Amino acid sequence: MADEPLILGIETSCDETGVGIVRGHTLLADALASSVEEHARFGGVVPEVASRAHLEAIVPTMDRALKEAGVTIADVDAIAVTSGPGLAGALLVGVAAAKGYAVAAEKPVYGVNHLAAHVAVDTLEHGPLPEPAIALLVSGGHSSLLRVDDLARGVVPLGATIDDAAGEAFDKVARLLGLPFPGGPYIDREARAGDPASIAFPRGLTAAKDLAGHRFDFSFSGLKTAVARWVEARQRAGEPVPVADVAASFQEAVCDVLVGKALDACRGSGIDTLVIGGGVAANSRLRAMAEQRAAKHGVRVRTPRPKLCTDNGAMVAALGSHLVAAGVAPSRLDLPADSAMPLTVVSVGPQEGTE
Ligand code: KG4
Ligand code: ZN
Repeated sequence: MADEPLILGIETSCDETGVGIVRGHTLLADALASSVEEHARFGGVVPEVASRAHLEAIVPTMDRALKEAGVTIADVDAIAVTSGPGLAGALLVGVAAAKGYAVAAEKPVYGVNHLAAHVAVDTLEHGPLPEPAIALLVSGGHSSLLRVDDLARGVVPLGATIDDAAGEAFDKVARLLGLPFPGGPYIDREARAGDPASIAFPRGLTAAKDLAGHRFDFSFSGLKTAVARWVEARQRAGEPVPVADVAASFQEAVCDVLVGKALDACRGSGIDTLVIGGGVAANSRLRAMAEQRAAKHGVRVRTPRPKLCTDNGAMVAALGSHLVAAGVAPSRLDLPADSAMPLTVVSVGPQEGTE
C-alpha cells in the first residue's frame, strides 16, 4: 500500500553487503554483494577482507537497491541498519553508511539486531507474525530458540548452543568432507543422494540426563567430532568415504535435534506458530522435516524462501518496518556498531549512544 512507510535496510555484519527496501510487508528491492569467494580459500570469513569488501560494495549496492525499487533516498521514511551482533569492522561500514545517508537525507535511523531481523524477514513472505511465536534461529554464528511475544520490543531466549552454531557445524563437516566453504549448501546438495539412516551420529543434549539442565540448548561439537572420527577410521582402513551418506546422516542428526527441540518448545508453551530463520533455515531437509513433524502437533511452520534465510538487506528493512509500525523510537545518530549486541535487544534505544 502506497501510504505505508518506505523503509531501507542495510546489512554488513558478516560477508554479505545487503541493501533492501520494503513498503510495509512488501519487498521492493533486495540488492546483495557477497565477498564469500574472497574467503573461500581460507575456509572461513576473514574479518579484514570482509570490511574492505563492504567498503567497496556499499555505495553501488545502495544505488542498485534504490534503482530496483524505483525510488530515491528522499522517498525513504526511515533507514534501518544492523548494529550487531557480527564482525566489528564489517558492522562499522554499514552503521557509518546508514548515518551518512540519514544525515544527508534527514531521515531517522534504527540500529537493529541482526538476529531479530532473521525472524522479521518472514513477514515479507507470510505477512504479520502471530505473537506469541517460537523462533528457531540457526545461522553461521548463532543457534537459539526464542519466545517472541513482541518482536518490536524484545524476545525471550529459551536456549542456545553451548558450543558450535548449527551453520558452523555444517561448515566444519563440509570441510572435512572436502566440500567448499560455506559448506551448508554443499552438504544439503550431497545429502540428496545419500542415506540419512546409514550412520547413527549422536544427537547432542537429547539424553534424559542432559534434558534436565539443557532442554532447549544445543550442542553440535560432539557430532562434528563423531563425523571426523568416522571419516578418519574409513581413511585409515583405506576405504573410500561415502560423502553423500555421511552428509545425509550428519544433516539428519542436526535437523532431528533442531526440529525436536523447537517443537518441544511449542508444546511446552502451548504456542502453535514456529518461525525458522537464519542461513541454516535454507536447508531443504530442515524445512521438510519441520513441516512434517509440526503438522502432527498442530504447529504451523513459517520459513522464508531460502534467499531470504541467508544474510540480506531485506531482513533489516523488514525489522525496521515492523519497528516503525509499532511506534518504536529511532536510535540516536551516534548509535554504536556492537559486535556483541545481546539477543534480547531488538533495536538501539534513543538513550543509547557511543559516548
Ligand atoms: O545467516 P547466515 O547467512 O549468516 C550468519 O548470520 O551467520 O548463515 C550462514 C550459515 C553458514 O554456516 C552456511 O553454511 C549455512 O548458513 N547455510 C546452510 C544452507 N545454506 C546456508 N546450512 C545448511 N543448509 C543450507 N542449505
Ligand atoms: Zn545471519
